[in-house]
Amino acid sequence: MQICRTIKEIRAFVAKCRAEGQTVGLVPTMGYFHRGHLSLMREAKKSCHRVVVSLFVNPLQFGPKEDFSQYPRDFDRDCAMAEEVGVDAIFSPPDSEMYPEGFCTHVEVTGITGRLCGLSRPGHFRGVTTVVTKLFNIITPDKAFFGQKDAQQAMVIRRMAEDLNMGLEIVVLPTVREEDGLAMSSRNVYLDRDQRQNATVLYRSLCAFREAVDRGERDAESLRRSITKMIASTPGAEIDYVEILSVPNLEPVASLQGKVIAALAVRFGRTRLIDNIIVEV
Ligand code: PAF
Repeated sequence: MQICRTIKEIRAFVAKCRAEGQTVGLVPTMGYFHRGHLSLMREAKKSCHRVVVSLFVNPLQFGPKEDFSQYPRDFDRDCAMAEEVGVDAIFSPPDSEMYPEGFCTHVEVTGITGRLCGLSRPGHFRGVTTVVTKLFNIITPDKAFFGQKDAQQAMVIRRMAEDLNMGLEIVVLPTVREEDGLAMSSRNVYLDRDQRQNATVLYRSLCAFREAVDRGERDAESLRRSITKMIASTPGAEIDYVEILSVPNLEPVASLQGKVIAALAVRFGRTRLIDNIIVEV
């Protein structure tokens, strides 16, 4: 597995793949890998000749009071895990390589970024779409792989790739969960024992939502209230948002019809967790 720290090095790696007629898959990450990341890498291996994983904690997508400096990092462990699943190259540039002095260009998707995490984390998606555009331009992948846990991010990136004719396939793969249902996230390591136990309410509330829909409930506000009630009654849970919106445009719905997402963000202490479920009626 090749480790590239500069744009020049990863471009040379990709050029060699291209010269050999190979397709390239990209898994963009911020590192501190868990089984969710590994499932993206494995899937990328199945459908592309070569797999590049970018490992870059992107300062542009963190707000001034967010956890950029504390975000968990373990480069050696990440490299060992990626190598184990057969990743061909890691692209892990320093901040100065991605954002040299004078950098002042940003990519912004409007509309669907105005809800959910876009509302509670101003500037977050602008940072994500800017770095992802740079990664796509640097690596020119045939396919890029994202997790459904970050459902809004996946929708925003799909929209951007389509709107800007980026000419690659965006693949979105199911959320990987712990045995008790908690969605895998690098931020789960911040949780203490009680918070970790209480955080299982997130997936339980989404499953209860799906069961209610299966039983025929269609009233979005009543479904939203049930999820909210379940979470609010859990010790330590502080709701950021619980929303039920249409897919893929993320518009509010009164009555469930077609594809809808129930999405939530909840804080346990200083840790903000997100999760979602999509149903089709
Ligand atoms: O999902 C993430 O880890 C990040 O938002 C991404 C897509 C790697 C961009 O920094």
